[in-house]
Order: sequence, then structure tokens, then C-alpha cells
Amino acid sequence: MSVNIYNIVQYYHFLISEFLTEDSINIDCTCGNGNDSLYLCNAMKGKGFLYAFDVQEEAIKKTQKLLLKSSKFNNYKVIHDSHVNVDRYILKKVQLAVFNLGYLPESKSDISTNPDTTIFALEKILKILKLKGYILITAYTGHDKGLERNALFDYLEKLDDKLFKVVNHRIININNYTPELFIIHKMHETD
Ligand SMILES: C[S@@+](CC[C@H](N)C(=O)[O-])C[C@H]1O[C@@H](n2cnc3c(N)ncnc32)[C@H](O)[C@@H]1O
Repeated sequence: MSVNIYNIVQYYHFLISEFLTEDSINIDCTCGNGNDSLYLCNAMKGKGFLYAFDVQEEAIKKTQKLLLKSSKFNNYKVIHDSHVNVDRYILKKVQLAVFNLGYLPESKSDISTNPDTTIFALEKILKILKLKGYILITAYTGHDKGLERNALFDYLEKLDDKLFKVVNHRIININNYTPELFIIHKMHETD
């Protein structure tokens, strides 16, 4: 596969395939229309387990419908709850978690992710992340003038580099609110 490093969705889907390990527990923290959950399910090839969260009933229904129609596998659970409650549902170590921040695309709803709850959930997932596991976060800057992206950046740049490495992937010579990807890799056990 040749990697499209300029299309953020294609790029993080490529990374998902690279970062998954056999029989792993994985999380879609913002399942929305279900596209990332579907990609994860098919990339996991029926092994391990996927938990998908969203606060909106509309998103839960769309994700369930898409997975039922298009996933070749059924090793997943779609959960109508906030990702801040991730530790109520997942008691095992996690290999990969993805956040695709912002609003539900093609919806009239004004519910969006929020910097405080995103960082709160992130802190919980950093604790249950496996050694060598990854978190991928896609942040958009157009809808909130970069508020959530900036809060996330401030939080991530202070993570202890002996425990986590954090990479920020973005196109820097385009001035039109290009989306950004943050890649967090756990380098050392935190407990
Ligand atoms: C950009 S969309 C996600 C797109 C999705 N990954 C896809 O493939 O279609 C962001 C989603 O985050 C959800 N969201 C907002 N706050 C949340 C929270 N605290 N916990 C879980 N989901 C949340 C929204 O309801 C929305 O559906």
C-alpha cells in the first residue's frame, strides 16, 4: 500500500493497520457515523475486541447500522456513553484508541467533543494503554478556532517523554484550517 500522507483519514487508517496487534482490545472513542469503527473491525479481522463510544443516539444508531451492514466480523460493542466513562466498560489493557474530534458530520446536532472531557478521557486511556500501544487523535481547527486542538497540544507537549512519545502530523504550508493528527506511543509502563 502506498501511504497518502496528506489525507488525514487515509493516513490514520494506514497507521491503524500498522499499529494493531493480534487479539488486541481497541477503542473508537468517538464513533460518529461509524467509518472508523468499520475500518478498525475489518483491520482486526475478527480477532480481539473493539469498543466504540459516542454520546449521541444518532451516532450510535448509524454506527450499529453500518457495522451490521458492512463489517465482516461481530467482535465489537457500540456503547451509548461518553468516552470519559471508558474505565466502566474496559478492564483490560488497550493496544489502540482513536479519537476523531469535533462534530458528527452531516448532522444538524451541535454536540461536539470538548477539550476538558477529551483530556479527561485521554488521561484514563493513557493508564490502561499497553506498553507499545498507541492513541491516534484527529483534531480539526475550523469549527472552534483551534480551541480543542490547542488545549490538547498544551497537554500532550507536557507528557513525560520517558513514558510517552508524541508526534504531531500536519501540513504546515497550507493556511486553511487543515486537520491535524496526534500520535501517542507508550514507551514505558506508568504504574
Ligand atoms: C467527528 S465525529 C466522529 C466521526 C467518526 N469517527 C466517523 O468515523 O464517522 C465526533 C463524534 O464525537 C462524539 N462525541 C462528542 N463528545 C463525546 C464524548 N464525550 N464521548 C464520546 N463521543 C463524543 C460526537 O457525538 C460525534 O459523533
